Amino acid sequence: MKAVICSIADTTPEVRIIELAAADGGPLPPYEPGAHLDVTLPGGITRQYSLCCAAPSPLRYRIAVKREPRSRGGSAWLHDAAAQGSPVEIGTPRNAFALAPAASAHLLFAGGIGITPVLSMAHALARRNAPFRLAVFARAPDLVPFAGELGAAPLAPFTSVHCALGPDETAAAIDALLAAAVDGTHVYACGPAPFMAAVTERAAARFGADCVHTESFGAIAPAGGDRAFVLRLLQSDREIAVPADRTALACLQDAGIDVASSCEVGVCGTCMTRVREGQADHRDSYLTTAERESCFLPCVSRAVTPVLAIDL
Ligand code: FES
Repeated sequence: MKAVICSIADTTPEVRIIELAAADGGPLPPYEPGAHLDVTLPGGITRQYSLCCAAPSPLRYRIAVKREPRSRGGSAWLHDAAAQGSPVEIGTPRNAFALAPAASAHLLFAGGIGITPVLSMAHALARRNAPFRLAVFARAPDLVPFAGELGAAPLAPFTSVHCALGPDETAAAIDALLAAAVDGTHVYACGPAPFMAAVTERAAARFGADCVHTESFGAIAPAGGDRAFVLRLLQSDREIAVPADRTALACLQDAGIDVASSCEVGVCGTCMTRVREGQADHRDSYLTTAERESCFLPCVSRAVTPVLAIDL
């Protein structure tokens, strides 16, 4: 739908908060905490941003955008060219990072701009009087997005902010938060890949993998690095090699195979492709457990088996 930017405010030197409204001023589709939104910018670039509203509003969406030094156009435009009244297109909110209804408590971890989906979850839990803790990690105090909001009611009593920690100190802080959590807690993490890996490994050991939920900004590669594999295209009877340093999506597109894509970081599902034989190495934040049995997202995911036969 057509939308407009109705306000822009910087929350840190590198993160700005942007509010969006329907171009006709009408109501926006509702969403659940953790949802993200496709935003198509002038020029046709589509990016996904988590909705981070403090309270759901039928008339406003709030997103936060970090300036990425190597931006492919999304954050650069939103930081350098966007203004109040700028037109954009938005999709319908989608949620692959929802709160677990059966959790006895919720422990939310955010690294840097990873605060965005977690912030709306924390506000929702506070409104429900549900037991939760929010732990925010940042490089420096002035780089904590939404610092004022985190330090005020209703979040402040449940929030801890951890700044300028090294890897060992970060791991110790994560361990302490996990140790203090009650049995049945579900853990949520969003942030840079090393931070996510540290949280998910420890949280899975404490509560089990089913109680750990993540939203990443990109694929998490294994410690040993990626391996090459072969895509066997069943419909077109072709085989395409995927080297260790390239994505399956890039190799398909280079070979002239038409695969729709958008985010290219495994969060939107646009490139979902059916797998017929072989085992995928899932790196996305989108597919459900059931979908992973038969599909993969070639923009980030790879193969466990030497050959992956897909429905293209
Ligand atoms: S392009 Fe968005 S998940 Fe692959």
